[in-house]
Amino acid sequence: MGKLISGKAVSTSLRAEIREKALALREDCGIQPGLAVILVGNDPASQIYVRNKQKACEELGFHAFEYKLSENYTQEQLLDLIGVLNKDNKVHGILVQLPLPDHIDEQTVIHTISPEKDVDAFHPINVGKIMIGDYDFLPCTPAGVMELIDSTGVSIDGKYCVVVGRSNIVGKPMAMLLLHRNATVTICHSHTKNLAEICASADILVSAVGKADFITANMVKEGAIVIDVGMNHDENGKLCGDVDFADVEPKTSFITPVPGGVGPMTITMLMKNTLHAAELKRPK
Ligand code: GUN
Repeated sequence: MGKLISGKAVSTSLRAEIREKALALREDCGIQPGLAVILVGNDPASQIYVRNKQKACEELGFHAFEYKLSENYTQEQLLDLIGVLNKDNKVHGILVQLPLPDHIDEQTVIHTISPEKDVDAFHPINVGKIMIGDYDFLPCTPAGVMELIDSTGVSIDGKYCVVVGRSNIVGKPMAMLLLHRNATVTICHSHTKNLAEICASADILVSAVGKADFITANMVKEGAIVIDVGMNHDENGKLCGDVDFADVEPKTSFITPVPGGVGPMTITMLMKNTLHAAELKRPK
């Protein structure tokens, strides 16, 4: 029987730590961590994320700067706004909620955010720093997954880890973080041959595919740790992950549920990055 890894519990204790450090920074040198969140358009899922980010800022004593912009906001206007926020000393982190409307080029936007304020760690400078293991920010979802694995007390060193999915946001950086911890890592994707077999030899399996019930028991080794990054909706509209939980759970040593696993960690790691960006402004 797999032990549930509670993203809620791990997140709660991390948030308490972040809150204390933010308070200390404010008391020591009057710096209040500030996060600017920009949402263009009306995507309902994005609106929920943005609201949760605002709530997290309130909870942790951060200054939240919220920009809810219309669907028609132009790329030029958005780049101008980012330029202003890049120069604003009260803003330590800038997050532009993705996806953006079709008329705005995501890469251009990401390149415009100052790397020092890029709390998503999407800017090529930050991506490159992660590659060489010398970074200020880690992308929020993979960083949250690392915290969840570490919460099990199982060492990652020398383990065989399989990451399913190769996105810039999750799969690729996830593999790199595991590699930095001395794991042997395979990235699988839609063109991978023998995907089920490869997954079934993983000590730690991380799925970031975006398909409900994609990971079934035959793809999981007895005693594996299974981390489900999927955020899907089943036929009744209920939130579910990539893993067929009922099928897979009995074979695992540890497993994350959806909801309540990776999800709660992502915003917490964003807050951690924002605190770090503010800490970097502490007078030496
Ligand atoms: N949309 C979904 N996840 C994310 C994320 O981690 N960062 C940003 N900026 N947008 C997202």
